[in-house]
Amino acid sequence: MRNSALPLSTNKHLLAWVHKMAQLTKPAAIHWVNGSEQENDQLCAQMVAGGTFVKLNQDLWPGCFYSRSDPNDVARVEDRTFICSLSKDAAGPTNNWENPRDMRKRLKGLFDGAMRGRTMYVLPFSMGPLNSPMSQIGVQLTDSPYVVVNMRIMARIGMPVFEEIDRDVKRVVPCMHSVGAPLAEGQADVSWPCNKEKYIVHFPETREIWSYGSGYGGNALLGKKCFALRIASNIARDEGWLAEHMLILGVENPEGEKTYVAAAFPSACGKTNFAMLVPPEGFDGWKIWTVGDDIAWIKPDATGCLRAINPEAGFFGVAPGTSAQTNPNAMATLARNSIFTNVALTPEGGVWWEGMTDEPPAECTDWQGNHWTPEIAKKTGAKAAHPNSRFTAPASQCPTIDPAWEDPTGVPISAIIFGGRRATTMPLVYQAFNWTTGVYAGATMGSEMTAAATGTVGKVRRDPMAMLPFCGYHMGDYFRHWIKIQRGLSETPRIFHVNWFRKDKDGKFIWPGFRDNMRVLKWIVDRAKGRAAGRETPIGWMPRYEDIEWKGMNFPVEKFDDLQAFDREAWKTEVIQHEELFLELHDHLPAEIIYERELLICRL
Ligand code: GTP
Ligand code: SPV
Ligand code: MN
Repeated sequence: MRNSALPLSTNKHLLAWVHKMAQLTKPAAIHWVNGSEQENDQLCAQMVAGGTFVKLNQDLWPGCFYSRSDPNDVARVEDRTFICSLSKDAAGPTNNWENPRDMRKRLKGLFDGAMRGRTMYVLPFSMGPLNSPMSQIGVQLTDSPYVVVNMRIMARIGMPVFEEIDRDVKRVVPCMHSVGAPLAEGQADVSWPCNKEKYIVHFPETREIWSYGSGYGGNALLGKKCFALRIASNIARDEGWLAEHMLILGVENPEGEKTYVAAAFPSACGKTNFAMLVPPEGFDGWKIWTVGDDIAWIKPDATGCLRAINPEAGFFGVAPGTSAQTNPNAMATLARNSIFTNVALTPEGGVWWEGMTDEPPAECTDWQGNHWTPEIAKKTGAKAAHPNSRFTAPASQCPTIDPAWEDPTGVPISAIIFGGRRATTMPLVYQAFNWTTGVYAGATMGSEMTAAATGTVGKVRRDPMAMLPFCGYHMGDYFRHWIKIQRGLSETPRIFHVNWFRKDKDGKFIWPGFRDNMRVLKWIVDRAKGRAAGRETPIGWMPRYEDIEWKGMNFPVEKFDDLQAFDREAWKTEVIQHEELFLELHDHLPAEIIYERELLICRL
């Protein structure tokens, strides 16, 4: 076997950077990641020995491992996430900004000796298939083997990427990562090293990422939110494409016609579920194909058609609520070769989370390592799995993975869907009148906050295009970029807004959601193809009861009316809330957004 301490690249810039970063962070060893299965096995075994991983019962969960994080490191930390552009104005009021010079000084201090006693992994990765002109390359230096094995599922890593780097045709985004827990000589390690102080820092002009103190999810798997959204949104703005927090799926009808749509819902608002939807009863011959569940890179091709790739290779999905009923395709995907973080561990060496089965296990070990029983839960309210517990699973294992999911040219996008988690005001579905009203609908999206980030769960906040935590530059400029993109298109995708989460007076969801979202999706596809009717309302086109396919479902028309109700008073309040966001962004707001707001007020 190759000695992993020897460089696997001949690229001078890479070698010089690795050397410089090693001098700064002072690791005990350097490991160049080749991406092989053998290497992966060795890293997993090493983590089992060190207590970071538990090998699950291989008869039940082949190739699967279990991990429990530090209770202070369980979600993205938005208040510790920074966009350090040269000017504060370029980052805009929705991002935390600090002067890049000061930040670099601070980071130098934090990273000085940060990897002492640990191994620094040199992890090359490609976001998108290696043969795609839409793909981008990064190298993450990390002292976390947990990150390496997760990134192996989430991205294309290893030798083929080093070879691509050596060909020197694509710019490489340097990604520094340390859990910020150096080990002194002879000091014993903990199972989840991290630091109370966290910094997730992006330098958009130099396309650099520096992440310190966390080993969890989007804070640490730097290809995902940091690169594929915050840095990529900057690249996309400069190059004329879109880097979005969107799933991509293909709808195949019984005639074999395939229509691709992309949908932006905020974190933990149903992207993974929607991307893997199983059509309900009454939809014989219909099929949903999965291209991606979290991020879409969308680019106009030479003919002016928008085409999208999924830059990821795996799913980092929310575990709670995932079951054979709600998402059988996710359950099949995560059945092997997957990593589970912060779910519960059963006595048989399996995993469990709230919502996985109707019947909870008689006992298990919860995500904090405590004994858990349904009785204890009833008394104390303790959750077996953390609400933001996750599975990391290879996309290739998804039963509905689209045959074109790795197409280097992407898939053509016919419709774009925006949607938040809203108990009131927002109907199940409406279609925007045109591209700019659609951009307005996306720009003014609101959603109740979820456990995916630390903060107040349940509070409605404006989350434009589900990108509030992920847009790497000024949100007003981002809206302008969206409007501009359409001017170069020969075919404009239709834009829709959905809300699976409207509640009745008793606080219950009115819409069953999940599989039945297919009924909404069918109307969307038919509208995009110019085949379905709708009625005009002040906010857009809405389906009438008879425009929805109800075969196999008994949903009364009165309930549908509640679901679709347009409440003028509630919308007046809604528009005032749009204003709160716009006040902050005003000097960068494109004229179209201001006019759209005026037109909406007129219609109200
Ligand atoms: P991120 O990975 O954080 O970006 O999340 P996501 O958008 O992929 O969310 P996901 O599909 O994992 O869903 C999150 C939660 O929403 C889960 O608890 C689901 O059970 C729930 N959910 C998903 N779809 C629906 C739906 O149609 N109706 C209702 N009521 N809940 C849903
Ligand atoms: C999200 O929060 O939107 C996620 C999970 O997809 S993380 O990778 O942690 O950002
Ligand atoms: Mn996400």
